[in-house]
Amino acid sequence: MESIENIPSYTIRQVTEPEWEKLRDIRTRLIEESPQAFGDNIEQTRRVPPTTWEGLARNNLIFVIENDQRFIATAGLRQNTDGVWLVTGVWTDPEYRGRGLGRKLLKHVIEVARTKGIGCLQLDVNQIQISAIKLYESLGFEKIFTLENEIYGDGKRYNQDNYQLDLAKI
Ligand SMILES: CC(C)(COP(=O)(O)OP(=O)(O)OC[C@H]1O[C@@H](n2cnc3c(N)ncnc32)[C@H](O)[C@@H]1OP(=O)(O)O)[C@@H](O)C(=O)NCCC(=O)NCCS
Repeated sequence: MESIENIPSYTIRQVTEPEWEKLRDIRTRLIEESPQAFGDNIEQTRRVPPTTWEGLARNNLIFVIENDQRFIATAGLRQNTDGVWLVTGVWTDPEYRGRGLGRKLLKHVIEVARTKGIGCLQLDVNQIQISAIKLYESLGFEKIFTLENEIYGDGKRYNQDNYQLDLAKI
């Protein structure tokens, strides 16, 4: 297995239903740590019942990097009601940032999308999340439009960029 700096042993994989508690843990951590990066609100997230977490793990493509049985990075792939495939919930534990995990996981998500025959991916990002934007642009995502004053998990409003990746181009 390819090694990431200082993390000799890790796995990248999709979350399964029996792991819903670990999924709940990382989703709660990411909203607590980066409320300005996600639409979800922490109080609502804490009230989500176990059956909903189980369903989330069962019915969604949520990927993680696991190290020592702990989820340390995550990203999801979801189709919206218009049929557009979205990359969602991209987050690396602050302890592990800057070591290539985010890039590795997103490359994995892109390859999964490709094997599913998905031609285009989209995502939304708060304009102030500079590290995320640099990562997306370096992977080939291109800015399509901006929505102003979108509400985020910290209750504040920010401008939000919508990015698109044409898989045929990369
Ligand atoms: C965005 C995020 C997932 C990146 O995760 P990571 O594991 O640290 O990313 P990597 O180490 O793979 O870095 C990949 C690229 O991101 C960019 N990047 C990472 N950290 C950066 C920093 N501190 N400043 C500027 N760019 C940065 C760089 O382009 C980097 O590529 P490089 O190392 O070749 O220069 C992480 O910073 C994070 O969780 N941020 C908070 C949540 C968030 O904003 N999520 C996105 C929601 S849309």
